Amino acid sequence: MARHLITSALPYINGIKHLGNMVGSMLPADVYSRYLRQRGHDVLYICATDEHGTPAELAAKEQGLPVDEFCAQAHDAQKAVYDGFALAFDYFGRSSSEQNVEITQHFARRLNENGFIEERAIRQVYSPTDGRFLPDRYVEGTCPHCGYDKARGDQCENCTRVLDPTDLINPRSAISGSTDLEVRETKHLFLLQSKLQHEVEEWVAAHEEEWPQLAASIARKWLNEGLHDRAITRDLDWGVPVPSDTWPELAAEGKVFYVWFDAPIEYIGATKEWADLDPENRDWKSWWYDVDTDVRYTEFMAKDNVPFHTVMFPATELGVREPWKKVDYVKAFNWLTYYGGKFSTSQKRGVFTDQALDILPADYWRYFLIANAPESDDSSFTWEHFTATVNKDLADTLGNFVNRVLSFSKKRFGEEVPAGGEPGEAEAKLGEEIARLLAEYESQMEALQFRKAAAALRALWSAGNSYLEEKAPWLEIKTDKDGAALTLRTAMNLIHLYAVVSEPFIPATSAAMRQAFALKDDTATWITADEARALTALTPGVPFTVPPVLFAKLTDEDLETYKERFGGSSE
Ligand code: MF3
Ligand code: ZN
Repeated sequence: MARHLITSALPYINGIKHLGNMVGSMLPADVYSRYLRQRGHDVLYICATDEHGTPAELAAKEQGLPVDEFCAQAHDAQKAVYDGFALAFDYFGRSSSEQNVEITQHFARRLNENGFIEERAIRQVYSPTDGRFLPDRYVEGTCPHCGYDKARGDQCENCTRVLDPTDLINPRSAISGSTDLEVRETKHLFLLQSKLQHEVEEWVAAHEEEWPQLAASIARKWLNEGLHDRAITRDLDWGVPVPSDTWPELAAEGKVFYVWFDAPIEYIGATKEWADLDPENRDWKSWWYDVDTDVRYTEFMAKDNVPFHTVMFPATELGVREPWKKVDYVKAFNWLTYYGGKFSTSQKRGVFTDQALDILPADYWRYFLIANAPESDDSSFTWEHFTATVNKDLADTLGNFVNRVLSFSKKRFGEEVPAGGEPGEAEAKLGEEIARLLAEYESQMEALQFRKAAAALRALWSAGNSYLEEKAPWLEIKTDKDGAALTLRTAMNLIHLYAVVSEPFIPATSAAMRQAFALKDDTATWITADEARALTALTPGVPFTVPPVLFAKLTDEDLETYKERFGGSSE
């Protein structure tokens, strides 16, 4: 039994996320957490909304809400969707919490004491009309590289080049549209990452061999380009304030920390939010402070987040010179595409998580997404692939098996697990196969190879079908009633095993399978290899009920409806 700290990249507050975001961070983290809990480990799965920064301010403005109110509402809306997906966070916090403010300010003070923060004067766009500096996206204009006329101050969406607001040609305020802009000198805090390059390199070198190649290669690329000193403050109203005890002048000017400075610290902040709700029983520091090898920390994220988690945040943690827990394993994902193209919020292309749940229950999505996770490469979502997978794996292989076995047994032997004869050769062969596949499933889960774990789970389901076809109890019963009863009892034991081992992927369906046998919802009891081989945990006489159809089969008509509603191509 070990202690596992698990986090998934914090979803940005602005907007409901699409399926690509879900499969690249929160969902696999949930699957992994559920698995480890079932194996008896002490797991803490933490996530939160990432609430600061320009996009939140702009979105609030657009909705005519004060930014704190906007964030409170948007947080609840996101949380509702994640509940719908059955994401079992131990805590889902908010980066705007007091706890995060406190810890972020503490980190900044320590970095400053250790010589890693410097005040520098920089030139920034100021708008007299708006009465404020305009950082990042608050300025729009023409891209100096490609001529796109709606480029934002932080990046050009057209040619993707990173920009500084002062680079833009014909700049205008994104707030008022005013073109009466000037460049003024203003002071900001810089994090001297260049001074930490060497230490970060050593730290990465000590870890990268264990990381998946995607995470290691991105970290290397960033280190090779060199760590640059970065401005970590902004002129915004909404953010963690620069502490006035250390920087009275900047605090008086209302500077706040840049969102990427405080967001990763919220992993710690959210753990404290969790602990503060029940301080007598929860100890946040026991997960984060001076726990080097006692806690195993796994982070889940999409590849665009890797530099921040493998290089920038570790640099911050190292510079603080306190024993804060650093990540042990970085599980990074490629992109999920929609028919080979980008999911696009602005062009309303792709499937959003709230829409997905409107159409079908979470388990359909959870299974499909993890079985097709963009692990070694990008993977493409298509409705054809989705409906075919649901029909084949979930409806036919698992759902139909459960239904056939239980309804046939009920019809012929009543509503209790039948007795029948002693297990024979077919059962021994099945037991070996199940034990082998279970071991394969466990080792893929432990290696965080989600597609391969899903394939092993599917193979477990298929093995049941092969056994049932081979024994054909509907024929067997005509000549050998005891034999048929044995077959059904063995098949029911498979259902029981499926209920346990499928839980990380399809928790609601697992619960339905358990309930069929009126078993306690005791998700933390895993199946041992011996139990898998014997398949006798469910004994004769245990009452059962036939659950409603576990997975509805999707029709050609459904497929057409989905394609029509969401667009059946990347165009
Ligand atoms: N909100 C960021 C994104 O959507 C992720 C933040 S993760 C954390 O890419 F490191 F800041 F926590
Ligand atoms: Zn451009």
